[in-house]
Amino acid sequence: MDASNTSKTATLTVGNKSYDFPVKNGTEGPDVVDISTLYNKAGIFTYDPGFMATASCESKITYIDGDAGILRYRGYPIEQVAQGDFLETCYLLLEGELPNKAQKADFVNRVTNHTMVHEQMARFFQGFRRDAHPMAVMVASVGALSAFYHDSTDINDPHQRMVASMRMIAKVPTLAAMAYKYTIGQPFIYPQNSLDYASNFMRMCFAVPCEEYKVNPVLSRALDKIFILHADHEQNASTNTVRSSGSSGANPFACIAAGIACLWGPAHGGANEAALKMLTEIGDVKNIPAFIKRAKDKEDLFRVMGFGHRVYKNYDPRAKIMQQLCHEVLKETGHENDPVLQVALEFERILLSDDYFISRKLYPNVDFYSGITLKALGFPTSMFTVLFAVARTVGWIAQWKEMIDDPNYKIARPRQLYTGDVERQYIPLDKRK
Ligand code: SDX
Repeated sequence: MDASNTSKTATLTVGNKSYDFPVKNGTEGPDVVDISTLYNKAGIFTYDPGFMATASCESKITYIDGDAGILRYRGYPIEQVAQGDFLETCYLLLEGELPNKAQKADFVNRVTNHTMVHEQMARFFQGFRRDAHPMAVMVASVGALSAFYHDSTDINDPHQRMVASMRMIAKVPTLAAMAYKYTIGQPFIYPQNSLDYASNFMRMCFAVPCEEYKVNPVLSRALDKIFILHADHEQNASTNTVRSSGSSGANPFACIAAGIACLWGPAHGGANEAALKMLTEIGDVKNIPAFIKRAKDKEDLFRVMGFGHRVYKNYDPRAKIMQQLCHEVLKETGHENDPVLQVALEFERILLSDDYFISRKLYPNVDFYSGITLKALGFPTSMFTVLFAVARTVGWIAQWKEMIDDPNYKIARPRQLYTGDVERQYIPLDKRK
């Protein structure tokens, strides 16, 4: 797959030798220097821990302009995509185009009719302690799907890839709801095919067998939009994990489980849980200065959760929509005076006028307001990153599918700068000091 074109070359001079490398141009964003022949030509590697300036792949799915605060799915601005619904976003990310009415209806039907999990999976949950973190349960149960659905694990079969993709989009919410129900000791609630994706998820989480559960359309619409905002985000850490896992030919369920594991980290998808804990710990606007002091103290590991981003050096466009959703949900649930929101708004106001944060181009990211919103929707903090994983599953699958569809993809195998011991001789135990 090489839609980019090569129009210039870059010259690298090492000592008294110079080497030329092709520059590839994308349709938007920075050009790239193709250094894949560097080691063969010059016997050296590039060095870029954390991939601060490294493009790991070519992709057509999501474009981010961090300086301008732009996010687009298949060219459509996130603000516009958020006007649709999550399953339309899934179709767009997977297929590359917005669906027409017939395509949308077919896609919704295929997802809706795969939402149940193998009945034996219910027994799988019994192995966990009740106080297991739902993310631990998700890593295990999504990985375990490959043990139940052998007929969609051959990554070389396009039909099996499609079936596995649909199964994960459909079943990950069911597993997420089961993970939640298990930790609170309530019975699992089966999916309801008459409900839309977000409403079905809320019902599986909050319904109990002894009474009718009525979905609040304002809240389920807000959750659906939250899923849209979290669906994909270029080559973030967990997507890189999924691509790297997939590059070895691992089955798609195992790759998505690896992505869930990476997302769990507080520097990544775990930041929504950490941000709410931080805002709750601050508790009152009078305590904000002490936390800002800690954030600036290099000796203190504290960072403002939900702030800063590797790519966005401007306001994360998702955070703006998230803030609007936060107000909507708090109003609908009667929490518009939630003290934590007041702390968040004042904290953001102060940070955005503080030179330490301005000079480092630190702005709110998607996680700053999501925790407050998810709490108001009724989810415990332990479920926040699970919800992120439910939404990001489609992005991981779309990126994994794009890689597998590329006939030129190779196993991800970075090299290193070795600074360990040079060769030395083994000393038998009885001769050591
Ligand atoms: C997500 O990649 C993605 O796209 C991820 C994501 C997605 O959709 O997949 O957008 C989801 O992960 C959002 C980010 C969620 N994480 C957090 O909110 C955790 C708090 N943020 C930081 O940990 C940090 O901002 C990162 C990890 C997000 C980005 O870190 P970088 O790019 O490695 O930046 P850095 O650590 O080099 O920071 C640059 C400077 C440093 O100060 P100096 O050494 O230059 O003096 O900014 C400071 C940092 O100390 N800094 C912060 C800060 N973030 C960076 N200082 C205080 N609070 C912060 N949050």
